[in-house]
Amino acid sequence: MSLTGTGELVAAACDAGRGVGAFNVITVEHAEGIVAGGELAGAPVILQISQNAVRYHDGRVEPLAAACARLAETAGVPVALHLDHVDDLDLLHRAADAGFGSVMYDASRLGYADNVAATRSAADWAHANGLWLEAELGEVGGKDGVHSPTARTKPAEAAEYVSATGVDALAVAVGSSHAMTVKAARLDIDLVGEIRAAVPVPLVLHGSSGVLDEDLRQAVAAGLTKVNVGTQLNVAFTAAVRDALADPGLTDPRKYLRPARDGVAAAVAGILRTISGG
Ligand code: G3H
Ligand code: ZN
Repeated sequence: MSLTGTGELVAAACDAGRGVGAFNVITVEHAEGIVAGGELAGAPVILQISQNAVRYHDGRVEPLAAACARLAETAGVPVALHLDHVDDLDLLHRAADAGFGSVMYDASRLGYADNVAATRSAADWAHANGLWLEAELGEVGGKDGVHSPTARTKPAEAAEYVSATGVDALAVAVGSSHAMTVKAARLDIDLVGEIRAAVPVPLVLHGSSGVLDEDLRQAVAAGLTKVNVGTQLNVAFTAAVRDALADPGLTDPRKYLRPARDGVAAAVAGILRTISGG
């Protein structure tokens, strides 16, 4: 299969009242595990590389993006490629040439007016360059290590923001927080429904690792579409590595990376079954 557009996958899921999983890629093994998880569940996946992961690769996004794009070609399910949580304009402007079909431009730390101005300009650039653009209103906590699931997106402001910026999807603050290693966050399902009714574009949940499965299911039923997951995959990846390295004689990386990749695939399949409805 060839690489699919994020917009296409999100629109199809939104129309069908399903969720679509977007999973953070740090290494090639993450990408392989995520695609394998999609194949296990028989559901499409969005591979997303965050600006932080690009920093880990010393600013070189192109090699990992190219590997993801080549993986999509041999995948048994549709795969899209998304650049996540970008606030560096130089990186944003490299997205199309690097093979991404979509970007999340993150101006959520700014006040409302500055967020609108920066995001409008990013959306104009993205659309002129054939990219689908997601943005965030009402900062989802945890990006700086501080868990704060208390932020909330206001429905009327969200509607005004989408119209003023021209974004294709909106990330909302409804109770989740980034980088949670246990499922303890409860979502404001009524608020999801209110934002859904007020806003004409698909909604995105960040920090989904910390959300209880039942809340994820209900949020999708109430109108959330793109479900972003990162930490939960790293919990599975690292547990498998730690377990394998209990053998002090082990030196071949394949002996610990294979179980890590399998752990990611199992986690992805589980999440996809939770959000796929039916
Ligand atoms: O944008 C990526 C997601 O929001 C990942 O959040 O690591 O808490 O699952 P998470
Ligand atoms: Zn996020």
